[in-house]
This record gives sequence, structure tokens and C-alpha cells, in this order.
Amino acid sequence: MAETETPDSFAALERREWAKSDVAQSYARVFAKAADMVVPAMVSAVGARPGSKALDLCCGQGNVTAALCKAGAQVIGLDFSPAMLEMARVEVPEAKFVEGDAMSLSFEDETFDVVTIGFGMPHVPDPPRVLAEARRVLRTGGKLAFSVWCGPEVDTALGYVFGAIGQHGSPDIALPPGPGANDYADPEIAFPVLEKAGFRDFQQVIVASKWHVTDPGAPYDYFLEGTARGGALLRPQPATHAAAIRAAVVDKVLEKHGSGPKWEVPIPAAMTVATAD
Ligand SMILES: C[S@@+](CC[C@H](N)C(=O)[O-])C[C@H]1O[C@@H](n2cnc3c(N)ncnc32)[C@H](O)[C@@H]1O
Repeated sequence: MAETETPDSFAALERREWAKSDVAQSYARVFAKAADMVVPAMVSAVGARPGSKALDLCCGQGNVTAALCKAGAQVIGLDFSPAMLEMARVEVPEAKFVEGDAMSLSFEDETFDVVTIGFGMPHVPDPPRVLAEARRVLRTGGKLAFSVWCGPEVDTALGYVFGAIGQHGSPDIALPPGPGANDYADPEIAFPVLEKAGFRDFQQVIVASKWHVTDPGAPYDYFLEGTARGGALLRPQPATHAAAIRAAVVDKVLEKHGSGPKWEVPIPAAMTVATAD
């Protein structure tokens, strides 16, 4: 357990939940279908090409890693979840994978041309430290790209699920204090931290990622079974609260996206790119 972790801290919750094989496998099987839609934008933004040295932080099951390899880069994927790394090693045998903490990298300064972080920022207790580490290991002029789900101010499955938890969840179930899930989708938060870490030329684009589902309750199931933060709020709910949360998600999908029998449920992402100064 790292220095800042206590058994009930945000850091410990993240480490514990992502270490669960069923959570990691469910994330990779269904939740990540939306994350996969952001991968081409990330790989193109960092200009990965044959010979690029790339580091994929919070690599999970290896979706960004695989695309960087396909672009010809030599890639190291890093994650702290053995369950995720087990899948990634099977999926992307051409990459090297390292078990480690994105907040404390063991690589030398200026080792990489490219650093990517696919949906890792909301999970680290100290996001500015990760960006500082990314800058340290990037060569000057190297590129960083990271993705974060947009917050509930836009139409998003994330808002439907967390809104339903707010309305129908048991008041006894709460998360330990930690960074906001969507903080780094906000340029007003992300850009000053990037500048302080030693980056320039920040840009952010919104990617219209979505899930194609045949059950309007699927977004609830995806968060329940395949996420750390959402799952930690949903899995302990008593049955009546769980049923009310799922029903509220179903109602929201029907209200926003029609009566089916198939739905395209948006879960848009903000992708931020910056250059090491
Ligand atoms: C939402 S998944 C993203 C997986 C993949 N990059 C994607 O885009 O679909 C977040 C990943 O971050 C990893 N993670 C969370 N905190 C971490 C940390 N401090 N250091 C390394 N990995 C971490 C988790 O184990 C998990 O695999």
C-alpha cells in the first residue's frame, strides 16, 4: 500500500476495485466499447509513428497500447491492476507491460516521445502529480494525450447513472474524498495544471463516444459491473435502492433516446492534448 493510502482512502478503493478480475473483465468487455471510440483521436493527436517511444499510462486492457503499436510505436503499457495487465499481455503481445503507479514512474527523465492516459485521470488521487510525471518522462517537444468522460452538464450515460444514484441511492453509501470524476474534462481545471507541469499548446476536443444497447438499463449494468467508483457506489446498495436506481436510468434512456428496441446512449469524452515545453 502506498504512503498516502489508508484502508478506506480513495487511493485504496481504486486499487482494490480495479484489482478485481470480474470488474476488470466487465470493463474490458462492455464499458470499454465507448472508450475504444476515443482511441483513434488519441493516437492521431500524439502523432505516433514507426520508431516513436510511447508510454501508455493506466493502460488497462491495452486498447490504446494496441493502437499505438499498430501505428508503429514501441510501447510500454503501465497499470497497477494485475487483472488488467493479464488481459493486456494476451491482447497486445508486441507491447511491454509494467505493473506500477502512474503517480510515481520508475523511468528516466526524457525517455518517451509520447505519453497517453486513456480514462486514467479520474482514478488517480493526485492528478497533477501524474501530469508532472508524464512531463518528466517526455522529451521536450513530446506529446501527451489524455481522455476523460464529460460531466453531467451534457447528455451522458454517466449523468443518467450518477443522477439516479443521487436520487435513489442509500444515504449510508458514499465514496471517500477524491478528485472529481470529470474534473479533467474541464479546460479551466486541466490547462493551468498542464502549464504548471511544463506543457504548452493545450487543446481539447470532444469525441461523441456512445454505447449501442438493446436494454435501456444497460448503462446501469455497465457501471455496476465494470467500474471502480460507480461500482463502489452501486454494488453495496440494498435491493430496493438498486432497483429504483436502475428504473430511473431506464426512464432517462427512454425519455432521451426513444422507445427502442435499440438505443444509442451517448457517453461523450473530452480528449486533451499538449506538448512538453
Ligand atoms: C477506466 S480504466 C481505463 C483503461 C484503458 N486505458 C481505456 O482507455 O479503456 C482505468 C485504468 O486505470 C488504472 N489505474 C487507476 N489508477 C492507477 C494508478 N494510480 N496507477 C496505474 N494505473 C491506475 C486501473 O487499473 C484501470 O486499468
